[in-house]
Amino acid sequence: AQIQWFPGHMAKAKREISEKIKVIDIVIELVDARAPYSSKNPMINDIIKNKPRLIVLTKKDMADENLTKQWVQYYESLGYQAMSVNLKNFNEYQKIIDKCRHVLKEKMEKELARGLKPRAIRAMVLGIPNVGKSTFINRLANRKATITGNKPGVTKAQQIIRVAKDFELFDTPGVLWPKFEDEHIAKNIAMIGSIKQNILPLDDLFIEAMTYLSQNYSSILKERYQLEIDLEDPDWVLKTFDHIAQLRKIKPLKGETDYDRVIELFFSEINDGSIGRITWEDTSCVKD
Ligand code: G4P
Repeated sequence: AQIQWFPGHMAKAKREISEKIKVIDIVIELVDARAPYSSKNPMINDIIKNKPRLIVLTKKDMADENLTKQWVQYYESLGYQAMSVNLKNFNEYQKIIDKCRHVLKEKMEKELARGLKPRAIRAMVLGIPNVGKSTFINRLANRKATITGNKPGVTKAQQIIRVAKDFELFDTPGVLWPKFEDEHIAKNIAMIGSIKQNILPLDDLFIEAMTYLSQNYSSILKERYQLEIDLEDPDWVLKTFDHIAQLRKIKPLKGETDYDRVIELFFSEINDGSIGRITWEDTSCVKD
């Protein structure tokens, strides 16, 4: 997916979403479990203010289980409702809806007590590109078609889908943007493939990824590539390229290792999750 962003766009997205949010009861904020901080929108608190919010860490099947637990606890410690899910598993959706019901139980009971008519909870899904917004909505709406572009904002012609007697959902999500300016965040956004456009040079990203993996997931490197990296070795980068090229029988290019092919292969295994379950940040990265 392509994304275009520029300041005017962001201001517009913020305005549109703030407007829509007035008529909803709860925001379901999707973040990617592989980078639960970097895949957030930096202005989200400002945009949705005190609206009840459920933070859903998606793609838990691709993320590090321990760190996912840590992140859920972290967001809970900040006073949010939080949970992790695999959106490819339909059973997870009921849990999300139940959690929303739980969050809004008191509000809905109060309305009834004041004599208001019983009504469904109204929810809106929100998040940066590629976190699973359309998967979420399409599954609940029981349809296949993709309905979102990745431009920040919300589509004007918005419909309400009734998902259950007491639960309704906007059929288009709010699309926000990550904080590209921050280097840590830009890097992680690239790692999780949120923005397909290359915002960072791939060879730098490869070195960053390998450094992180050798420090945090050396067992994955060993299992997947029979690779042991010694970061003290000044030649570790070239050796790593050569090793993977040889292992995966990547044909040399004019007698040299085909670096681009190695990078391509590596990131395709990162993207489809075949490399193993990786999370790119722990809660110590939070700076605010
Ligand atoms: P977006 O609307 O927020 O931009 O995200 P979208 O739903 O398009 O999801 C982006 C990709 O992430 C999709 O893969 C989707 O299947 C996948 N995805 C979403 N949630 C999960 C999850 O919890 N676990 C896993 N493993 N994948 C998830 P795709 O390759 O673009 O399409 P496809 O694989 O569905 O064909």
